[in-house]
Amino acid sequence: MAKTSKKMPRRNRSSAQGSLVGFASLGWELLVFGSFALNLVAIALFALPSLDRSGTPLGLDSEGSVAEGALVASPHSEGQKEEMVSEEEEISVSSTSGSLPASKDAVINLDHGDPTMYESFWKGMGNRGDITIAGWQAISYFSDVTNLCWFLEPEFDHEIRRLHRLVGNAIADNHFVIVGTGSTQLFQAALYALSPPDTPEPLSVVSAVPYYSSYPAVTDYLRSGLYRWAGDASACKGNAYIELVCSPNNPDGSIREAVLNSENGMTIYDLAYYWPQYTPITRAEDHDIMLFTVSKTTGHAGSRVGWALVRNKDVAKRMIKFIELNSIGVSKDSQLRAAKIFKAISDGYELPNPENKYKLFNFGRQHMSMRWKKLREAVKVSGIFSLPEFQPSHCTFARERTETYPAFAWLECEKEGVEDCESFLRSHKILSRNGKHFGADRKYVRISMLDRDHTFDLFVERLSSLT
Ligand SMILES: Cc1ncc(COP(=O)(O)O)c(C=O)c1O
Repeated sequence: MAKTSKKMPRRNRSSAQGSLVGFASLGWELLVFGSFALNLVAIALFALPSLDRSGTPLGLDSEGSVAEGALVASPHSEGQKEEMVSEEEEISVSSTSGSLPASKDAVINLDHGDPTMYESFWKGMGNRGDITIAGWQAISYFSDVTNLCWFLEPEFDHEIRRLHRLVGNAIADNHFVIVGTGSTQLFQAALYALSPPDTPEPLSVVSAVPYYSSYPAVTDYLRSGLYRWAGDASACKGNAYIELVCSPNNPDGSIREAVLNSENGMTIYDLAYYWPQYTPITRAEDHDIMLFTVSKTTGHAGSRVGWALVRNKDVAKRMIKFIELNSIGVSKDSQLRAAKIFKAISDGYELPNPENKYKLFNFGRQHMSMRWKKLREAVKVSGIFSLPEFQPSHCTFARERTETYPAFAWLECEKEGVEDCESFLRSHKILSRNGKHFGADRKYVRISMLDRDHTFDLFVERLSSLT
């Protein structure tokens, strides 16, 4: 990187983990837990005799536009969102996030990577991404007790594997699929799984600067005795560690490899942005632990679904145990929605689609290409900022040479006298994330490139006026 200015298929029984071995290995704990859960379900059924049991089957399209309704609703009244756990003052949810700037001089909030850009694609998809879940369906805690990951919906498992085969960005077939409440939960599950339980000292968790701003905060907020944040991977001393490799990297879009290479070291690959709308797909990744998220793949951040591809069965079991203890599984409703969304994407490429209308990655790439063009023009006009440059590569998915269009702009302010780019932009009512949260200099900020067109256009207009 250089610098200048209906119904879904029931299940995938051929998967490695879809065996009775997985069930047996859960042991009596699951059986006890199972009887507890079944009791709960029985109580629910008894207590709610008027439940409508004649609803439509899962996956049938509905008349209404659930997605639109949900996305128009104010999403930020309370609770935590993506990346909102560090330094409350500056990274907490702002009332402007998620809403359209009403006037030309309104506050423009591009602090969070909220992927609302994808709304217009899903509006164009009509009812292809809709699901209806009848009141009586998806009640049980359990999704598939024959699977090691007993809370994984078979439809979700099937569509994940199908999508990876289609895109060619990761090898899923010799890995366990583990679903999580966002990849944020899976990241914590992976730390738990990789840390020796009897360690005298917490294991160091490191990542090369600039690293994703949530890594330090999510690692340390519970002050675990198992692991602790130790900062920049390049400065890591010792040979026992967990290295987080985010590629393409949040915040700067660079393609990364592990910087450490010790026999006792372990690596988690966060591949949230390894999709063709952001970067050329140059090979199918095949690491021991790979994390992905629906939020950056399709835009459905609010469904809070992520998945891990995990090679080793014992590591997979410990990650599953973490999720069992942390949230007793993952929302079935969300998994079913995500499965339908993924099905719609793969169908868009694998079924006849004469106008190329239903191709998510084409939509994403086109939008990102246009946005990066506008941003680079604005930076040029302004003359006080610079952006990273990227080399094109052959993309095995697009079957042509393609450019890199990261989901975030890693913007440096070169204006004399400006030491803190985030404050400078804030004074012009542009909210961004300060470089310091990524272990980098305050002259840098991270800006989301995934907001709605209207917000993005206002942003580039305002940026070009700054001199
Ligand atoms: C690199 C990276 N990993 C993980 C996440 C979290 O994803 P999720 O919304 O699935 O928790 C994000 C979200 O911005 C991210 O940028």
